[in-house]
Amino acid sequence: MAHIHDSSTPFPSPRVWLITGSSTGFGRALAEAVLAHGDRLVATARHPEQLQDLASHFSDQLLLLPLDVTNEEQCLWVMKQTMQHFGRIDVLVNNAGYGLFGAIEEASAQEVRQQFETNVFGLLNVTRAVLPVMRTQKHGHILMMSSVGGFLSFMGTGIYNATKRAVEGLSDALAQEVGPLGIRLTIVEPGSFRTNFTGGSLKTAEHTIGAYAQTSGMVVEYTRHHMHGTEPGDPARAAKALIQVVEHPEPPLHLALGADALQMMRGKLAEVKQDWETWEAVSVSTAFPTPAKH
Ligand SMILES: NC(=O)c1ccc[n+]([C@@H]2O[C@H](COP(=O)([O-])OP(=O)(O)OC[C@H]3O[C@@H](n4cnc5c(N)ncnc54)[C@H](OP(=O)(O)O)[C@@H]3O)[C@@H](O)[C@H]2O)c1
Repeated sequence: MAHIHDSSTPFPSPRVWLITGSSTGFGRALAEAVLAHGDRLVATARHPEQLQDLASHFSDQLLLLPLDVTNEEQCLWVMKQTMQHFGRIDVLVNNAGYGLFGAIEEASAQEVRQQFETNVFGLLNVTRAVLPVMRTQKHGHILMMSSVGGFLSFMGTGIYNATKRAVEGLSDALAQEVGPLGIRLTIVEPGSFRTNFTGGSLKTAEHTIGAYAQTSGMVVEYTRHHMHGTEPGDPARAAKALIQVVEHPEPPLHLALGADALQMMRGKLAEVKQDWETWEAVSVSTAFPTPAKH
């Protein structure tokens, strides 16, 4: 690959962050950590009143705004408010999202569309609103909240996994496009963290099919009844890790969060590598025997 010239301007300090889905879980934990760290924050949520306690403690550092990421106009309005209030944006955290669980066949077209509407199209709405500002500034860092499920899939979570694969697919390209403009991008791949993800936020396909009861159905049942509140990952520790990454001069493109995430992704990588090696002779047998003439 060609050498990419780094035309970025240095990050000002304190940084200005914008986080989507700040009401609970990772978003809330990161909001608290960013404020405690002394940085400035635009905390957005569908119901910003849920963050009122932070507003009273950190009134100088915090701008609280309503944002449903599926509303493109509201994303542009949030960006305008951010610029009026803080004059710049240094870090965007595309965090808002939820899981739709159920077998692929069980999920209705509408449930699938809603899932992509939030996790993919919503994330793109926010990103498109923020990029013109970051390009003008010649600096910025975008954190894309993917998942271990953006790297491998599990039965019962295939549609959710597909949204996170989409996030990874677009992020990989975006990082190459905006890197030369001074904008960094990190894809965050958490394992299981103790948030509202497996609690009140979890959506399951309304229509169930008996044939999947012992496969994906078991995954859904386990997640719903046994997982919530027992996940190994601590969102507050994840928040500290994210601040560390943002402050690093050479942040990674991929960041796994949690030992479980690392183990699963290493396993998947080994599986893919094994397939490539076993089938290498077939893979390389598909080219024309002689190179094309120009
Ligand atoms: N927890 C895990 O184990 C885990 C693992 C891998 C990846 N993740 C990812 O981490 C991110 C955060 O999830 P979490 O674990 O912190 O779960 P969470 O506690 O349920 O938080 C999700 C947040 O997203 C918000 N949200 C959902 N739809 C939205 C919309 N249309 N517009 C704006 N905000 C919206 C929710 O707001 P409301 O309060 O209004 O619903 C909530 O603030 C998600 O992208 C999730 O896929 C989580």
